[in-house]
Amino acid sequence: MSSNESAEARLYYPPEEFVRQATISGMDAYKSLCDEAQRDYEGYWARLAREHVVWHKPFTQVLDQGEAPFFKWFADGQLNVSYNCLDRNVQSGLGDKVAIIFEADNGRVTKVTYSELLAKVCQFSNALKSVGVGKGDRVVIYLPMSVEGIVAMQACARIGATHSVVFGGFSAQSLRDRINDAGAVLVITADEQCRGGKNIPLKPAVDEALSLGGCESIRNVVVYQRTGGACNMVAGRDLWWHDAVQGQGDACEPEWVEAEHPLFLLYTSGSTGKPKGVQHSTGGYLLQAVLTTKWTFDLKPVDVFWCTADIGWVTGHTYITYGPLACGGTEIVFEGVPSYPDAGRFWKMIQDHKVNIFYTAPTAIRSLIKAAETNPVVHPRNYDLGSLRLMGSVGEPINPAAWEWYHRNVGGGRCPIVDTFWQTETGGHMITPLPGATPLVPGSCTLPFPGIQASVVDETGAEVPWGQGGILVMKKPWPGMIRTIWGDPERFRKSYYPADFQGKYYLAGDGAIRDRNTGYFTITGRIDDVLNVSGHRMGTMEIESALVAHPLVAESAVVGRPDELTGEAIVAFVVLRRSRPTGEEAKKIVAELQAWVGKEIGPIAKPRDIRFGDNLPKTRSGKIMRRLLRAIAKGEDITQDVSTLENPAILDQLKHGAG
Ligand code: WTA
Repeated sequence: MSSNESAEARLYYPPEEFVRQATISGMDAYKSLCDEAQRDYEGYWARLAREHVVWHKPFTQVLDQGEAPFFKWFADGQLNVSYNCLDRNVQSGLGDKVAIIFEADNGRVTKVTYSELLAKVCQFSNALKSVGVGKGDRVVIYLPMSVEGIVAMQACARIGATHSVVFGGFSAQSLRDRINDAGAVLVITADEQCRGGKNIPLKPAVDEALSLGGCESIRNVVVYQRTGGACNMVAGRDLWWHDAVQGQGDACEPEWVEAEHPLFLLYTSGSTGKPKGVQHSTGGYLLQAVLTTKWTFDLKPVDVFWCTADIGWVTGHTYITYGPLACGGTEIVFEGVPSYPDAGRFWKMIQDHKVNIFYTAPTAIRSLIKAAETNPVVHPRNYDLGSLRLMGSVGEPINPAAWEWYHRNVGGGRCPIVDTFWQTETGGHMITPLPGATPLVPGSCTLPFPGIQASVVDETGAEVPWGQGGILVMKKPWPGMIRTIWGDPERFRKSYYPADFQGKYYLAGDGAIRDRNTGYFTITGRIDDVLNVSGHRMGTMEIESALVAHPLVAESAVVGRPDELTGEAIVAFVVLRRSRPTGEEAKKIVAELQAWVGKEIGPIAKPRDIRFGDNLPKTRSGKIMRRLLRAIAKGEDITQDVSTLENPAILDQLKHGAG
């Protein structure tokens, strides 16, 4: 969006009815919070931490910058996240209130109250303790969307174990790498997962991962029986969830941990090397989860909230497992996919469960737009979506056309949309509208969350004027931020606090531009070698490493190509160890390499398009010219200067896909 366009862009003001009941009501309320943070940064966060989090031992320290960038927040305080999410609500009279409405892939609905959830979490906590899991142990969770997934995470939090959830779509190899890096003692999984009417085995991937070597730290595997499908149980190592909880008491004293105790690790892709274990804290993270849930989603205990993310991603952590429960809300947990039994599933579920707040990804919206256009039966107008009062978007930039459609057809023109910019590393929302305050502009995530010091700078760290694109940074540490990369503090420092900015600023890895008139932020996309495919982060290097691990592949370069539906699509340029294939043979090798990447990383990493060349376009010093590859992937004519290119003839070969 150019600043000229945005100056004329239509503003969507918060509806009066919404403003009247909103927790943060009106721009003055927003500004006064920002001012408070400006005047006394630590005092601001300390006040909120006291008001919104229950502490077992109150903190006296707020921000400790001693070993920057390894910041600490509320370090001498003690608390328990599971206590904050469950016991607190039960004690305040919400025990009989439904915490989770679980809808299975086949449509079966199960409801769990806060009291029941607390009992389940305590039982499972006791089961974990009985197999010797305790404070500081790492537990890998490889479960589908389920009540059990949330129970497993909450139980880890309750006993002070650090969980690391691995998305069920990752391969055995990826699972193995994460178990190995985390040094986990236990894996929690299911026999199978149900998605789109199919039962997909999950446990075999765990068996394979553990057989690959490097997982010697694992002592046990707990298996939740989801379908009763065939499942090989290794004697002495594997135990069923239902057996593990059998006879366990439904009370378990929470383990009070220090605010900096690692609540979880979550692996995510960076521009180099293997996925990194983003380490989050307990106190600061919980504060951010609670505050953003209350302010960005305006969530109150009467609300039914639905975040469609998977617990395998950070969105599922903050806005399924922790935030909504800590706020005493009722939330939907959905096992299935938006297209089954048809693409009206989301709308039907909103109608059936009278969802008030709905949070999803632009990719899902775009695919549902397409579905509604081709099959009018699944158009949202056929459903009663009158319960909705607020909608959100996350994971990638939302194009204004999709925003408008979502606003009009799903929100009936009356619901604000919060376009929330944040990252695995940030713990919670960073730049986002507050729905009862911020006038909206489609495609813009608007303004920083109160207290967050976001800015756009150039390569030297100097702030660029509004209207000019640059690098998105955070000028001050915030409570929910990443604490380190598990086992690799140096990588944490280098990736996020680079010397370019004298180690002063947090580098988000995204480009941004602020509107010349309003100062609103628009995210322009990643500025590193990270792709965003359907809202999932993928490192190009990771896919390249997977490709060159195939015996046929000598060299590869992976780039992203803009895609209407998925945001970006993965395009791989490959040089084989043999002559360049063509025709049918090329097609066969493409299929083989796609399957290979699916096995090495997971189906989400499969290249959409693979092109073969005798070589890759390189400078005379041997550097691959990725900019050219991006242009070729897009099908653009090469207008750039190719005089520094060692081998210009290669460009022609790479223009054509296999077949
Ligand atoms: C992108 C997901 C534009 C961005 C919570 C970021 C967005 C990466 C938005 C983080 C948004 C996320 N507008 N881009 N509202 N939200 N992104 O770690 O590139 O899976 O750096 O966290 O997604 O992805 P991650």
